[in-house]
Amino acid sequence: MKTILALETSCDETAVAVLRGRELLASEVASQAAAHEPYGGVVPEVASRNHLLHAPRLLRRALKVAGVALESVDAFAATSGPGLATSLMIGSSIAKGLALGSNKPYLAVNHLEGHLLSPFFSTAEIQPNVSLIVSGGHTLLVEVGAVNTYRVLGRTVDDAAGEAFDKVAKMLGLGYPGGPEIERRARDGDPARFDLPRSMLDSHDYNFSFSGLKTAVRYMVAKLPRTEGARFADAMIDDICASFQRVALEVLIRKTIAAARACRVPLVTLSGGVSCNRALRDQMEGACARAGLQFLPAAPELTTDNAAMIAFAAVLRFSLGFQSAVTQEIDPNLKLA
Ligand code: KG4
Ligand code: ZN
Repeated sequence: MKTILALETSCDETAVAVLRGRELLASEVASQAAAHEPYGGVVPEVASRNHLLHAPRLLRRALKVAGVALESVDAFAATSGPGLATSLMIGSSIAKGLALGSNKPYLAVNHLEGHLLSPFFSTAEIQPNVSLIVSGGHTLLVEVGAVNTYRVLGRTVDDAAGEAFDKVAKMLGLGYPGGPEIERRARDGDPARFDLPRSMLDSHDYNFSFSGLKTAVRYMVAKLPRTEGARFADAMIDDICASFQRVALEVLIRKTIAAARACRVPLVTLSGGVSCNRALRDQMEGACARAGLQFLPAAPELTTDNAAMIAFAAVLRFSLGFQSAVTQEIDPNLKLA
């Protein structure tokens, strides 16, 4: 059974995990949400400095929690892209340094592959599926044949779904990241109160667009009455959140089901930060059941950025004989296929 230590520093979470076979021995994540909250989004320079600050501490902690000595690690892995260059280079430099220093293999892992395979973390083997990855940086529909056999069916042509959640939250004066706030507010809101555009729903392809929806919310919000202190009434915010979330989820779900049918796969998988949204999980599950498809979402703790999913992808790749050269550069625009 191989033991892999993986680092994930592609955006604003610093994460280290230790995985032995399929057994997760440690998964440490230091969120930087508080550091970026005042800016309403991730500031690359701030993210990079924080990775440098947190990574060594997390590394020591992960090994301690796992009860694994550094010498017993069989291979070191890190996210090599896509992501912010100044963030990616911290985790990958550490993993490469550890691999070089101990003369052990290094594995560069695509962040998207980490998300894509994460639903299978506790199942036996990877089944052919159509996978929706929805995060703050990506919105992708992928046909998965096996590990390393991927066909991108469609992607967002502008903003990622999570980015739209974050930007709408910012317009409404809610915190960062906006997704969880919008989900919470939407629970008490009326999803039918505001009519918003379902962009590209009838585009006859598997691409998405969330920029038009975001702009529609912006124009709508500008015209709505505010209470004292230029704030919106709480009930109004709840209704905007519910209306926005309904439309965003509807497009994601309809296109995913259409893609799964077209690809004739029996299974739909769901991953990425936005996939911890309960309404998305429940509605996708219902839509899959109606279409006669199985549904496998990532476990909630694996949805937002973490190193366990990177370690898992690395274990699967390692067992198939993949390794990377320590000279392999990070690639902020790394493609999945
Ligand atoms: O996967 P992730 O941690 O980072 C990227 O790879 O981008 O995803 C973060 C994104 C953020 O945009 C955040 O607002 C969104 O996931 N998110 C959610 C929820 N929780 C996190 N969006 C909708 N509903 C949620 N409950
Ligand atoms: Zn991610």
